[in-house]
Order: sequence, then structure tokens, then C-alpha cells
Amino acid sequence: MAPHERIDYLRSFLHEQNHRYYVLNEPVISDMEFDMLMHELQDLEAAYPEYADPNSPTQRVGSDLSVAFRQVTRTKPMLSLGNTYNEGEIQDFYQRIVKETGHDVDIVCELKFDGTSISLEYEDGELVLASTRGNGTMGDDVTRNAKTINSIPLKLRGDYPAHLEMRGEVLMPHAAFDLLNQQRTDIGEPPFANPRNAASGSLKLQSSSQVANRQLDCILYYVMTDDRHFSNHIESLEAAKEWGFKISPSYKLCHNLDDVYEYIHVWAEKRKELPFDIDGIVLKVNDFSVQRDMGATAKNPRWAISYKFKAEQAHSRILNISYQVGRTGAITPVANMEPMQLAGTIVRRASLHNADVIASLDIHEGDTAIVEKGGEIIPKIVGIEIEKRLEGAKPIEFPTSCPVCGTALKRIPGEAAHYCPNQTSCPPQITGRLLHFVSRKAMNIDSLGDETIELLHKYGYINDISDFYQLTPHQLLNLPGIKEKSALHIINGIKESLNVPYHRLLFALGIRFVGETVAKKLADEFPSIDALREANPLQLMLTEEIGERIAQSVVDFFADGKNIEIIEKLRAAGLQMKAVKKELLGENLKGLNFVISGTFVNHSRDELKSLIESNGGKMLSGVSSKTNYLVAGDNMGPAKLEKAQKLDIHIISETDLLKLIDNGKLD
Ligand code: IVH
Repeated sequence: MAPHERIDYLRSFLHEQNHRYYVLNEPVISDMEFDMLMHELQDLEAAYPEYADPNSPTQRVGSDLSVAFRQVTRTKPMLSLGNTYNEGEIQDFYQRIVKETGHDVDIVCELKFDGTSISLEYEDGELVLASTRGNGTMGDDVTRNAKTINSIPLKLRGDYPAHLEMRGEVLMPHAAFDLLNQQRTDIGEPPFANPRNAASGSLKLQSSSQVANRQLDCILYYVMTDDRHFSNHIESLEAAKEWGFKISPSYKLCHNLDDVYEYIHVWAEKRKELPFDIDGIVLKVNDFSVQRDMGATAKNPRWAISYKFKAEQAHSRILNISYQVGRTGAITPVANMEPMQLAGTIVRRASLHNADVIASLDIHEGDTAIVEKGGEIIPKIVGIEIEKRLEGAKPIEFPTSCPVCGTALKRIPGEAAHYCPNQTSCPPQITGRLLHFVSRKAMNIDSLGDETIELLHKYGYINDISDFYQLTPHQLLNLPGIKEKSALHIINGIKESLNVPYHRLLFALGIRFVGETVAKKLADEFPSIDALREANPLQLMLTEEIGERIAQSVVDFFADGKNIEIIEKLRAAGLQMKAVKKELLGENLKGLNFVISGTFVNHSRDELKSLIESNGGKMLSGVSSKTNYLVAGDNMGPAKLEKAQKLDIHIISETDLLKLIDNGKLD
């Protein structure tokens, strides 16, 4: 097979597998096979740049180039929908249509996805433009970012029209949202308020490789094309499904208002089981000729309307506001309320996020709060019942000093949070940092829980992370509730953490804005703590995903003498301060490139791989003219074999490979 044939084959095969996995939810090959073929395609594209394709499956990984978004003007504006909130308003909508058309009409009910709207344009089956809604007529070109969303087809399938525009919604599923917010709070960044904000924020990120990590999804709900005749909405949706789009299966054709009400009642409950948020139901006239006759106002189509779910609300008195101090010193106000029943749970607390939120709600002492729990799980104070305000109640004033250590608070211009600057001796900041240090993704000392850490600090045994390594069994046994067995467990856990690799230590140090991924990137680029310490902001910013803010934070961290002292103590205790290079066992494979295929008798593929690498050889993911040896096991792929034969590449067995490693030659 000529290279470009293989490239074409891999592209269409990977598009197909992608569709099966992300749109149909029915994968047929393993993740590993997918990754291997993707690598093979990447290698081939690098070797044959003349066959580049902007819609190749390899383009989904995004890039770090930061470019301003180009504005696009559209001829058919993206309209929004009129809202209704009760059955009476739905009835008005329906009767108006019946009156104008003179007969009953079928209505399609759909879910109203709570994300950010997107338009996708295709020419001859190729994605050419993805744009945001903007003001309806003008939006941002977000094509590069949209390509990283796996459920968006880059190439259409089947009998698609030559010119096509699809409109739909980009969503962030709950699981991805929770993970993202966890990562953000881990590094001291404010969490997103809800998946909708997270989705629209992600779509507008400058670096598309970051967008690729956000696990966005895209559901399409409207087909626009002049090249194909459809008589109704459902027909067009079903066709779009065949072209490869993700279409929600939850729509329903309703013949009368009762059908519509039933749909609404069912989804008002069932929405709690969905993996993403919906904020209502959309009603659309199914028949396209009726849609055309009815037309649109400047803002809304007259043939469609949304019904918004009411978020459940409860009212409760605010008992007091407490102020939590995080590990970075950020102060979070929390309203403590009389317990109330809300959407199936008892709610006692709601975060007020920062001083601006308190001010905009104009909260006074003893006020009655209106608390809401929408599709989102976290309760939120949305307002105050002014009529119930107690006479003479004073407005809540944000503290000027730290509620725990008393230090005067600071507010960094441009940031919403107040900070306690007393990093070294403010207790919750210290215990917060200690807890972060031992957490699973950091040093993973799981024998140490919140309570023990607080006690260790209270007893004066541990003040900073380096003190963990001076801890004695005797000190632990002094703590209430700690017996010999758990003391031993803790000491062992701490000892084991000496083997935790350098990149995780870097994350564990708790440098502001340095999360797990950033720590890994920094460790790859600066393979020792000393190299990192010496780096200037410009050098740091040359690293993938490191911008000015992170670079400055790293520099500030190392400029603080106390941090250097801690690092030196950690070094003395024997922690991993360098990235471990794969140990070279020999050099007999130096300069040779290998591909492995099939299954083997004496070693696993991973073992063979690491044997090759530790003897100086290089692994390639696919057979190419650069390959020196193809190590063939049982059941190897026929395509690889054929290709290797064509390119005249040595095909060797597992035993041959071992000989080569031992002797540097085959016999
Ligand atoms: S139809 C002309 N269908 O709701 C077509 N919109 O104000 C107009 N939305 O921002 C939109 N789910 O992004 C339609 N199933 C659905 C929808 C939906 C969510 C969003 C849309 C728009 C807003 C309507």
C-alpha cells in the first residue's frame, strides 16, 4: 500500500471508530488499538506533509497556538426562543398556531440542553466553520476548538447534502464538570459556577489542546440546508443522525397538548438521571411548511417556544456567615441557615463565594434567604425576602481581618477573593497545605487523614511539609486515639512516599496554579527541582500550557527563602528531586527503530517495549521506511506484515530480539 493509501485508510477507519465511540456509544476496538493506529497516522502525516488534511482525526488533539478569534457574520441569524413557565402559556402558544394555520398541528418536544449554542458548517461533507452564537448575527470562529470535541464529525458519512449548517449545543457532562472543578480548586483557581459556564468558557479557551482535555460533548437539534427536501423536523433530525451527528434520542412527536404536558412531567423527573443539565423543554412545530408560514420575529421563531423548568426553591433564615480559609489563603464566605428541605435533601449551608456576591444580594443580619437548587446539585442563594427583614438589621460586612489568625486581609486588584497573607502561621492555610501534600494525586500518604493532620499541627509536631519526614512513632503515640498499629501504618506511608516521582512532588508542593497536568509538563521540561528553580519567567513560558500567570507564580514560589528551606529539608530526607531517566541496560539497539505486533510467548508487549528502550532502541507506533525491525508475534495484523514485506523490513521473532539485545547481532 502506498503511504497515501494507508493514510486515507487510517483516516476513514479512525473517523468511523470515533463515531462509534462518541456518537453511538458502541466501540468495537480497544482504546489501545485506537491509540496505536492514531500514532501510526501521526507518524505518517509527519513523514508525508504533502498529504495534510485539516479534518484528519489527528487534528482533534488541538494545539497550543493562541490566536484571537475571528468574527464571522452569518446571513441567517441564530435566533433564541421565547420562554414559557406554565401550562397556560404553552396553551396560548399552541392555540395561536392552530388559529393561524386553521388546523391542529403536531409538535415535537425536545430537551432544552443547558450549554452554549454552536453552529457547524459543512461543505462537501467537510467541517469548514464552527462558530458561537455571539449576538446572533455575529459570532466567533471557534473551529479549532470545536474540532477537539469528539462527538462533532469532521467528515460526514452517507448521503449528505453539499452545503449544510447544523445548529446545536455544546455541553459539559456532570462527570467532566466535577473533575474540572476539582482540578481548579486543587490549584487555587475559582471553580466554575455550573456546567453551562464551564462549557462556554472552555469553547473560548485560547489553547485548543486545553479544550481537548475538557471532555465537551455536542448535541445537534436543527438542520439547515437548501440541497435537500425534508417535509418535517423529525425527518431532518433522522437524516442528520445518518450523516454522523449526535442527535438526542429523547425527542417525542406530540399530537395534542396532553402529549406535550406528559412529556414535560416525565422529563421534570427524569432529568435528574441525565449525565448533563437540561433547563427545560423545547416545543417545535414538526411540519416545515407550517414553520415557513409562521416565520420569525426579529429575535425568535414563531413556530417554537421553550418551557423552562422551575428550579426548586425554599426559604430559610440565615443564622450567621462563616468565613473559610483555604490553603491558598482565599477567604470563602458561607451562609449557615436554618435547615430546610430542598429537592430531596436537607440544606443547611450555601457558599456565597466572595464579597461581591454578598454585596449584590444585599444580605443583612438575620435575613431570610431564597435558596434554589436547579439542575445543578449545589444549592444557591438567589435572593432575599426583603419583607421579612428584621427591623434595624445591619448589612453584612466582609471581615477586614482573617477570622482565624487575625491578619489584615488583602484583595488583589482584578480578583474577587480576599486573601489572608499570613501563609506561614495561619493554621487553616498550614493544614490545608499539609492535606494537599498527602492527598492521593500528590504524595498519596493515605494513612494520614484530616483529623490526624490537624492534631499533628495542634501538638506542634508538624508545621510544614518537611516535618512529616522527622515525625517519630513516639510523637504519633502521644496523639489521642492513635495506637501502635496506626502509628506504624503512618510511618510506613511516609517512608513509601520517598519513592513518589518528582512530577508528583512538584504538584504536592502546592505552588499556586500548578495543578497535576502543569506539574507534569514542568517536570518534563525542567527535569530537576534545581533546573526549575533557576528558570526565568520567559523560559517557563516556553513550556506547553504555561502562561504568564503560572510562570510568575513558580518564580515567586522559589523567590521565597522559606520555601527553599523546606525544599532543602525534603532533599535531605531523600525525596525525588529529579525526573528518573529510564535506566540504560545496554546499547546494542542504539540507533535502531522497532515496531512490535502480535502476542508473544515469554514477554508481554510492554515488557518487550521497555527491553527495547532500555537497550537504546526506539519504538515506533507504525511500520514505515524508518523501521529497522518488526518484531512479530502470533496473530499480528496482516496490514503490518504486508507493509513490512513491501518495505523490505527485517521481520524478527521474540527470540531474535533477545539475541540482538545480548549480542548486538542476530547470529
Ligand atoms: S432550537 C431556531 N432546540 O436554547 C432554533 N434550542 O433561546 C432555535 N437550546 O441558545 C433553537 N436545546 O442554544 C433549540 N433542543 C433545542 C435546544 C435549544 C437548547 C438553546 C439554544 C438557544 C436557547 C434558546
